[in-house]
Amino acid sequence: MMEETVNGQPMTDRELTSLLRNWTVGELGTISSSVSILMSYLSGHPDLRQSLTNDTDALPDAIDEILRMDAPLMSNRRITTREVEIGGRTIPAGEKITILWASANRDESVFGDPDAFCPGKNRDQNLLYGAGIHVCPGAPLARMELRVLMEEFLSAVATLKPAPDEPPERAVFPTGGFNYLPMILTKG
Ligand code: HEM
Repeated sequence: MMEETVNGQPMTDRELTSLLRNWTVGELGTISSSVSILMSYLSGHPDLRQSLTNDTDALPDAIDEILRMDAPLMSNRRITTREVEIGGRTIPAGEKITILWASANRDESVFGDPDAFCPGKNRDQNLLYGAGIHVCPGAPLARMELRVLMEEFLSAVATLKPAPDEPPERAVFPTGGFNYLPMILTKG
């Protein structure tokens, strides 16, 4: 990678650092946040956990929908290339803006009640992996990792509950998910 060239130019240290950061935040950070969000949600919804244990074909859509409601990747940044009107406001060219996926994926005008678990209805509007030219190239891998993890997890555990008297600790923006999520599991 150190000898890699882009448009005939070797990559600078700054570019390499940015690339490594994208890999680590983009891959490791989002997946670990996702795992904590999925565990937390299922621990609070034992009926759903049971139905997904019985019907693992429903897992891929269920995982995307849980992560729509509770974002593992909060936001990304852009610089506008031209003047644009969004939500009734005009943003000039060259402006630094933040795309808040966590908010867009809970937009009531699109999803209705943002906390309603409706995997089929919400699938096509879900922005979990972004949209457009920067749409997540790791989405198929991420979906496979999370599906296999959940299949194995659901078949191995009989019960999953939040630990009593030990409150979970949410991660702090811009990180999604949990820093600390004590759970009590029993084997199936
Ligand atoms: C649940 C896990 C993941 C989520 C929620 C997620 C989400 C996203 C989103 C929303 C974007 C769009 C960024 C933008 O528009 O600026 C993105 C881009 C990206 N993702 Fe993921 N991602 C996940 C896992 C992964 C994995 C496993 C990889 C690598 C194997 C990966 C690699 C990337 C890369 C390299 C980009 C940048 C693409 C570009 O700028 O053209 N992501 N991801």
